Amino acid sequence: MSLLEVDGLTKNFGGLTAVDNLSFTVDEGEILGVIGPNGAGKSTVFNCVMSRYSVTDGTITFNGDDITDLDTYKIVNKGLSRVTQESDPIDLFPVGGNIKLFTLPNSLLSLYGGASDKEIAGYASRVGLETKLQETPDELPHADVRRLEIAKALATEPELMLLDEPFAGMNKQEIGTLSDQIEALREEGMTMIVVDHNMSGLMRLVDRVVVIHNGSKLAEGTPDEIADNEEVQSAYLSGEGF
Ligand SMILES: Nc1ncnc2c1ncn2[C@@H]1O[C@H](COP(=O)(O)OP(=O)(O)OP(=O)(O)O)[C@@H](O)[C@H]1O
Ligand SMILES: [Mg+2]
Repeated sequence: MSLLEVDGLTKNFGGLTAVDNLSFTVDEGEILGVIGPNGAGKSTVFNCVMSRYSVTDGTITFNGDDITDLDTYKIVNKGLSRVTQESDPIDLFPVGGNIKLFTLPNSLLSLYGGASDKEIAGYASRVGLETKLQETPDELPHADVRRLEIAKALATEPELMLLDEPFAGMNKQEIGTLSDQIEALREEGMTMIVVDHNMSGLMRLVDRVVVIHNGSKLAEGTPDEIADNEEVQSAYLSGEGF
C-alpha cells in the first residue's frame, strides 16, 4: 500500500477540465516531483488532495483511509500538510507567532495552548529561521518568507508534505540551501511531493517524477527517464513554457 493513492482524479471548473482522470501514488519516504507548464493542473491536484476544492470524480486515499472531500482540518490531523504556491504570513505576528498559530488546537481564534517556544524554534531551525523568530514576515527576504511557509506546514507534524513551487523566485544559492533542508527532512522520515515548472530544481532531489499536461499524466519515471522522454521533450518544444 502506498502512503498516498490518487485514483482517477478529475476536477472540472464549469466547462474546463483542470485535472483529467489523473492517477499516481507516493510511497513512504519518497520525494515525488510533479512538473508541468502553467495551468497544467498541478496546484488543483494539491487543492483536491487537501479538500480545498471538492473533487468532480476519483478517490484520494491516505494511509489506507479514503480522505476524498473530507474536511481539511481532518486531513491535516491525519498527517498531511501543504505549502501553498502563494505565501500568506500574518505581518502582525513575528515569525515565531506565525508558526505557533499552526500548532494551536483546532478552534476558532484559540490563543492558549499550542507548541512551546522550544518546539517552535525546532520547526524554524529545520528551515534555517531559528535566528529570525522575533522578526515580522514583512522584514524578511522572499526566500525566508517561503521558508516560513514550510515551517508553518512542519508545525502540524505531517507525515506527507505537499510543496507547491517552493523554489520559485529563489536564486541558485537559496535553491541549494532549501534543497539541502528538504533532503534533511526526508532523512528524518518525511514523505514529500514537490511541484515545480521544470526539472532543473528537482533533478537532484526527487526519486520519481510525474509530468502533467492539460490535467492528464503525460509521463512518469526517474528524473533521468523524464529528461530523456521524447513526449516530454516535444511538449517542452511546443513552447508551452515548461
Ligand atoms: N478556482 C478556480 N476556478 C476556475 N478555474 C480554476 C480555478 N483554479 C484553477 N483553475 C484553472 O484550472 C487550470 C489549472 O490551474 P492550476 O492552478 O492547477 O495550474 P498549475 O499547474 O498549478 O499552474 P501554475 O504553474 O501556473 O501554478 C487553469 O486553467 C486554471 O485557470
Ligand atoms: Mg500552480
